[in-house]
Amino acid sequence: MSDFLERNGLQTVAQHFKDLFLASVHRDGAEELLERLENETDFFEAPAGAKHHGAFPGGLVIHSLNVYRRLREITIRDLTKEDAPGPATLSEQEEETVAILGLLHDVCKAGVYHAETKRRRNPETGVWEDYLGYTFRDPLPLGHGEKSLYQIARFIRLEDHEALAIRWHMGAYDTAARTDLRDLSAAMEATPWVWRLHEADMCAAHIDERGTDE
Ligand SMILES: [Fe+2]
Ligand SMILES: [Fe+2]
Repeated sequence: MSDFLERNGLQTVAQHFKDLFLASVHRDGAEELLERLENETDFFEAPAGAKHHGAFPGGLVIHSLNVYRRLREITIRDLTKEDAPGPATLSEQEEETVAILGLLHDVCKAGVYHAETKRRRNPETGVWEDYLGYTFRDPLPLGHGEKSLYQIARFIRLEDHEALAIRWHMGAYDTAARTDLRDLSAAMEATPWVWRLHEADMCAAHIDERGTDE
């Protein structure tokens, strides 16, 4: 369980996500997209995964906020010239891109983790017990990045570099990259946002969310 979530509760964390999104994203369709996430999906209660990091209600929102923060830091790092007196300032467009990519890259995870009662042996007592776990079942198996891209682009118009970053945010972990790395390499070549979002996603999952399993 995340400290941030424990301190603030699910409602406050969800509100923070919505405020941040609406303050940063000014494109047509942004409010409709948020309304859909809120009213027609389990995005704000969903876990970020079935077993590992973020496997608790609200894990997906926490993960998305972590990726947003990491991506913002990484982008500032990349845009800061070596001899600059201080860190670069992001333009309004860059802030918008950071918010779209960070906050929405995993919208494909809404509606795929189904809470179910499972059995396990308690590691301390050795006694079998019931626990609430998640089972992955995707009713729209388009592919991970592909599905997020599809679901976002139905509501807001994306720039090419944003579409590429969302599609390829799994980097070399993407199933398509296992047999042929050329498309991933071409996407990384086309825009630095592909690497930035992938790096932010890895930092969030493997550093920020380390030890947050249920
Ligand atoms: Fe993802
Ligand atoms: Fe992610």
